[in-house]
Amino acid sequence: MTFTPIHTDRLIIRKFRTDDYIELYAYLSKESVVRYEPYDPYTLEQARREAEYRSNSEDFFAVTLKDGSLIGNLYLSPREFDCMELGYVFDNKWQMNGYATESARAILNYGFGTLRAHRITAECDPENVRSIKLMKRLGMRREAEFKQNVYFKRNPDGSPIWRDTVQYAILKSEWEKLK
Ligand SMILES: CC(C)(COP(=O)(O)OP(=O)(O)OC[C@H]1O[C@@H](n2cnc3c(N)ncnc32)[C@H](O)[C@@H]1OP(=O)(O)O)[C@@H](O)C(=O)NCCC(=O)NCCS
Repeated sequence: MTFTPIHTDRLIIRKFRTDDYIELYAYLSKESVVRYEPYDPYTLEQARREAEYRSNSEDFFAVTLKDGSLIGNLYLSPREFDCMELGYVFDNKWQMNGYATESARAILNYGFGTLRAHRITAECDPENVRSIKLMKRLGMRREAEFKQNVYFKRNPDGSPIWRDTVQYAILKSEWEKLK
């Protein structure tokens, strides 16, 4: 499906392009940014492959300032039963400006509107305070805390480092009431 870029007050949300890789590398290479992500900081070559993958994916969206600078990305991916999963990663250089909130609101609107989602969920580590604040700001409700349900890293002896996750969700009917 062709995605028409979304313009918000301060931002543009568009599909990724292969030539985004240098700006993608600028934030995915930072330990502080990917700390809660299921991957290690990216190399430039990994970022090049990732930009290529994302440019062919319907699930990843680049977020830019009006001058075209890439500041982060959103993820909105279909799940069973008209449900979608939301994700977001922003360069720490551009965090704490309301950009994640502004763009995530726009992508929720797109998910519930154009993509006709019934329910949108997001999940994160309980220690990821910024992500939890963002989910709440978007009007999402806490639905669950899963104990030791994921591991992204291993101990030196090879055993998994288990982490908990918290899940938040919002229904289309709840979203409509917020508008
Ligand atoms: C999760 C993440 C996207 C949240 O980003 P964020 O910068 O906290 O969110 P926003 O861009 O919406 O900024 C909101 C903050 O900016 C402040 N702000 C400053 N100027 C503002 C403005 N002009 N308009 C709106 N808010 C503004 C808000 O008050 C808010 O701060 P508060 O929460 O202390 O009240 C970000 O921390 C991130 O990318 N982390 C790394 C990746 C990650 O962990 N992703 C989630 C994995 S599950």
